Amino acid sequence: MEWICHLNEIGQVAADFWASQHNHRVFAFHGEMGAGKTSFIHALCDARGVKDVVGSPSFSLVNEYAIAGEPGTIYHMDLYRIRDEEEASRAGIEDCLYSGSICLVEWPERIPGLLPPETVHVYMDWIDNDSRRIKIADN
Ligand SMILES: Nc1ncnc2c1ncn2[C@@H]1O[C@H](COP(=O)(O)OP(=O)(O)OP(=O)(O)O)[C@@H](O)[C@H]1O
Ligand SMILES: [Mg+2]
Repeated sequence: MEWICHLNEIGQVAADFWASQHNHRVFAFHGEMGAGKTSFIHALCDARGVKDVVGSPSFSLVNEYAIAGEPGTIYHMDLYRIRDEEEASRAGIEDCLYSGSICLVEWPERIPGLLPPETVHVYMDWIDNDSRRIKIADN
């Protein structure tokens, strides 16, 4: 599945994304700096009714958001600053990945061996200033 997503359509694309992926839980977002991973993850959180979506969890590694009207939470992880899988393990990343909660992971390349096998891989590419390609690997 693939979308060409203009910045002002990001909410609609996020809704389409969830409609196509409702039975999946762990999502790995691949893409260079500025590809739009954080922006799209925020749109995905908005689309699930998360209140108070805050900035990139670059310093905390993990942000946990409550989902409005649902018991679950969403984990947003930014692993850019993680050196290796051992450091990620020590930071409790697997506890999140195997918690049963929705996990949205930036820089998943840092932890290939820790991602659950059923992880959905999403690829984001720059097209122009306000447009990105968002591609979900077949699953
Ligand atoms: N269609 C789009 N989708 C997502 N972001 C877009 C889009 N069009 C423009 N942008 C802009 O591109 C920038 C993307 O930055 P963002 O922080 O989301 O990237 P990132 O992939 O998370 O980068 P990093 O790897 O540094 O965390 C933002 O300024 C955002 O407003
Ligand atoms: Mg980011």
